[in-house]
Amino acid sequence: MAETIPSRQRLRQRPAGGGEVLVAPSILAADFAHLADACRAAIDAGADLLHIDVMDGHFVPNLTFGPALVASLREALPDACLDVHLMVMDPGMFIGPFAEAGADHISFHAEVLEEADARRLADRTRELGCTAGLAINPDKPFEAVAGWLDAFEMLLVMSVFPGFGGQPFIADVLDSVRAGRAGSASGQWIELDGGIGPANAAQARGAGCDLLVAGSSFFRQDRSAWPELLRQLRGP
Ligand code: DX5
Ligand code: ZN
Repeated sequence: MAETIPSRQRLRQRPAGGGEVLVAPSILAADFAHLADACRAAIDAGADLLHIDVMDGHFVPNLTFGPALVASLREALPDACLDVHLMVMDPGMFIGPFAEAGADHISFHAEVLEEADARRLADRTRELGCTAGLAINPDKPFEAVAGWLDAFEMLLVMSVFPGFGGQPFIADVLDSVRAGRAGSASGQWIELDGGIGPANAAQARGAGCDLLVAGSSFFRQDRSAWPELLRQLRGP
């Protein structure tokens, strides 16, 4: 299926908002003992990006991956687009190491930053060759960060409270997605993350998302089901 392997460059440069919906399986739900194999299989099945949830045990009550894991995935999958989601108290400490390790997109949370710092970190992310995403928790309305968005390539709306995979989808956040879509410039991506599967993907797409993260709904399925699952998530 070589022709379906996404080009990293294409995804990095893709003008968003053009109706194309992309899917990023979250490796948080993968079998860590066979991670590279699972990631390669996800891409071969047609996944567009790999979503990598970085948790520091402070911003969220869980611990996951460091830059070394991203470096290993980059080496194993040189053409994969790696979407790093920093759920950490001090994103400024980690943007450099994750960019160096081979991340393509790096998102960090508005909850831990003032606007000026968020803008400075977005600039630093771009200087390091990555695109920058601004993430908001379900209880932060888009309006609270609407004025920051021009500094970012992507808005990441959480549809669960961050920290764990497998939680139920919070549909109320679609108001933030709709407001974000209305308030974003053309070319900005809106990513939705948490509890997404075939049952709610159409709602998410209808609200204006163009990048859907799928953890449990993807990796907890048999691999043979992945191509059809991706079709259902992307929609017509
Ligand atoms: C939650 C993470 C999500 C999570 C999604 O803290 O940011 O990316 O892995 O997993 P599911 O799809 O299982 O909710
Ligand atoms: Zn995430």
